[in-house]
Amino acid sequence: MKVTNLSKIKIYPSILSADFANLGRQVKEAESCGADGLHIDIMDGHFVEPITFGPIILEHLRQISDLHFDVHMMVENPSKYFGELVDCGANSLTVHYEACESILEILNLLDQFDIETSVAINPETEVDNLLPYLSKIDRVLVMSVNPGYGGQSFIESTLDKISCLRKYIRQNSLNVKIQVDGGINKDTVKNVVSSGADIVVVGSAIFNKDFSVCDGIKAIRKLSVV
Ligand code: DX5
Ligand code: ZN
Repeated sequence: MKVTNLSKIKIYPSILSADFANLGRQVKEAESCGADGLHIDIMDGHFVEPITFGPIILEHLRQISDLHFDVHMMVENPSKYFGELVDCGANSLTVHYEACESILEILNLLDQFDIETSVAINPETEVDNLLPYLSKIDRVLVMSVNPGYGGQSFIESTLDKISCLRKYIRQNSLNVKIQVDGGINKDTVKNVVSSGADIVVVGSAIFNKDFSVCDGIKAIRKLSVV
């Protein structure tokens, strides 16, 4: 069953698809065009194949932006980096359920920091695995592509996971947001929002050489009202 989300959807552009030669300028443009946060994908070459960047990128971007820095940690042993990422300006940290031997231990470590906490699940990971932890976190990140690359196609079966989470959160009066990441564009965002997402992460449909960052955000914003 589809649910209607009447609250304003938050849009977090993912810099993975940005023009890195002009990163500062593009981030400023996203900020001035109403981005609600900036999604920063950290990949270690182990949890996922690619390597991206580390805390240094946050440190530099923090000097030019007041946006909420939302760090998606696609890394093994995520807790090793919590302190440095927070010191460099992270406002929320997302760890992968699949990367944590003991999710409770990781959540206890995260609790020591004044940030929002989040757990991500890959497309093949069942929502049920997360339910026991929902009261302990601020957000769930539902991956709607397999993590590692921008520009992939949205996996439609993810919509049922979003609806299921939305229903559970409502029934249990939990205060946890649903964030969705991967393959979100003009064709897919409506269904993501109507299934119950609070925050959409958008990479290649915002940072794209065919249109400006502002036009990308505007197009997604227009379609996010359901
Ligand atoms: C993929 C990353 C995403 C990526 C999304 O592993 O977690 O944040 O940037 O890119 P698009 O929106 O192009 O699918
Ligand atoms: Zn991401």
